[in-house]
Amino acid sequence: MANRETVSEDRDGTKRIINRFSPEPTNFVLLLLGLLEMKMTHTPENRTYWNETAAATAFPRLFGDVNADVAIIGGGIVGITTARMLKDMGQAVAVIEARRVGRQVTGKSTAKITSQHSIIYQTLEQKFGEDRARLYAGAQESAIRKIRSLAAHYGIDCDIETKSAYTYTRDRTYVSKIEKEVEVAQRLGLPASLVNQTGLPFDILAAIRFDNQAQFHPTKYIAGLAKTIPGDRCHVFEDSRVVDWDPARVVTDRGSVTARYVVMATHLPLEQVGGYYALAYPQAEPVIAARISRAPNGMYINVEQPSHSIRTHTQQNGDVYGIVAGTSFKPGHTDDERKYFQDIEHWLTSNFDAGPIEYRWVNEDYSSMDNAPFIGWSSSIGDGYLVATGFDAWGITNGTAAGMILADLATGKENEWLKVFDATRVKPIAGGPQFVRENAEVAAQLVSGYLSRKPKSFDELAPGEAAIMKIDGQNVAAFKDEQGRVHAVSSVCTHMGCLVGWNETDRTWDCPCHGSRFDLNGEVIHGPATKPLAMALPDSR
Ligand code: FES
Repeated sequence: MANRETVSEDRDGTKRIINRFSPEPTNFVLLLLGLLEMKMTHTPENRTYWNETAAATAFPRLFGDVNADVAIIGGGIVGITTARMLKDMGQAVAVIEARRVGRQVTGKSTAKITSQHSIIYQTLEQKFGEDRARLYAGAQESAIRKIRSLAAHYGIDCDIETKSAYTYTRDRTYVSKIEKEVEVAQRLGLPASLVNQTGLPFDILAAIRFDNQAQFHPTKYIAGLAKTIPGDRCHVFEDSRVVDWDPARVVTDRGSVTARYVVMATHLPLEQVGGYYALAYPQAEPVIAARISRAPNGMYINVEQPSHSIRTHTQQNGDVYGIVAGTSFKPGHTDDERKYFQDIEHWLTSNFDAGPIEYRWVNEDYSSMDNAPFIGWSSSIGDGYLVATGFDAWGITNGTAAGMILADLATGKENEWLKVFDATRVKPIAGGPQFVRENAEVAAQLVSGYLSRKPKSFDELAPGEAAIMKIDGQNVAAFKDEQGRVHAVSSVCTHMGCLVGWNETDRTWDCPCHGSRFDLNGEVIHGPATKPLAMALPDSR
């Protein structure tokens, strides 16, 4: 068996090394592999609807040293919006994206542009008081207007459509919560009304309707907005993974950006910056897309479990797709992943006359302990980073509001929304290591719990099977692909040492503790980890 390294390209255009352990192929085997890979590309797993229906981007890699006013790590909705806002203020910005802009978390969302975040306003009013709940509401409505104005001003073709948003229930015990949410939302100035007709193809008991909301194509929007940034001392770099940083400098494998401030627009700040790994917890959610012939004319989510969120997208040929997200689960917990995918597939096909499921992927979100995002300086003593995290699955408007706030802070302006979002409002939990240890134990149980079959060597792995193994004392995460190639890496997450779990839809190793994701070869998809999973030792093969 030979150690081989070849380069492949993901659907998002990211180049990566594959085949670390593989037998020497014959021409016949190569032909067979090609046929099998062609077949694999037509399965719905790890196919992200938005990323496959948007043109590829081609921003340069960062080479050499660049100076800017603000360095922004991450090219999703937070990073690109912040960059656009700062450029409007005359600032020089450099966006540094490890993979491709708009194709990670933003490109895997349902992309609802709405201030209706399920029934959050009664919770916020209770936890933060009416005034700050009103600020949250105002930030979301401003974000809706900002997305519309940016798309219109720059002529971004991102399929933006005005829609009403509905949060509904079919469970009698939730009706009073719906009624309460309407009362609070109206008092906060939101466009809310109580209805019992929604356009859904089934009866509901009560619903909140927010008018004048919208939906769009997130990958097209981010790519279009990113294209407006280069020039006038501003840059967007792709395929440039950050390997080191301090509050005034960012270093990649081939270059660096020196700046007055650094924005961490990386979903969760990298590694242990600000201690947010202990303040926001990760949730994975299953998402599917299929053609539907009974399309509802709005955006919907229910309150009770299991969760069903749906919106539509109409393609140029008139085909309408239903995009459905389901109940959140702990990353890497494969039992729940299977259960909730099955649930939303049944729900979509039985209610909306859906064709075969064509796209199936997993997204991740972070939720804060008090339900509001953390946005702003990571430290109150002037030595911090600008950060944004904990959007609780409502990242399109929260991410846009974050861009507006971070741009204000980087230019010395005040922003009243900080009264609710202030990222220093809760001190990192003392005893972080204990928190991590406990999570590590949970993760270990979780991983060993779902693997009813426990192969002891790679030879025992069936094609398409993944396993966490203990080989010669090593914790090994192994996957055997349909061609018989074994992809084996350490199962110990490089962030803080939890054991990763298997994401069978995307074929990634996901960490249940703080949400880092790694590909089959251990490369980081997104952090907080920044280092790849270690290679399994050759003698463990
Ligand atoms: Fe923190 Fe894995 S993401 S230990």
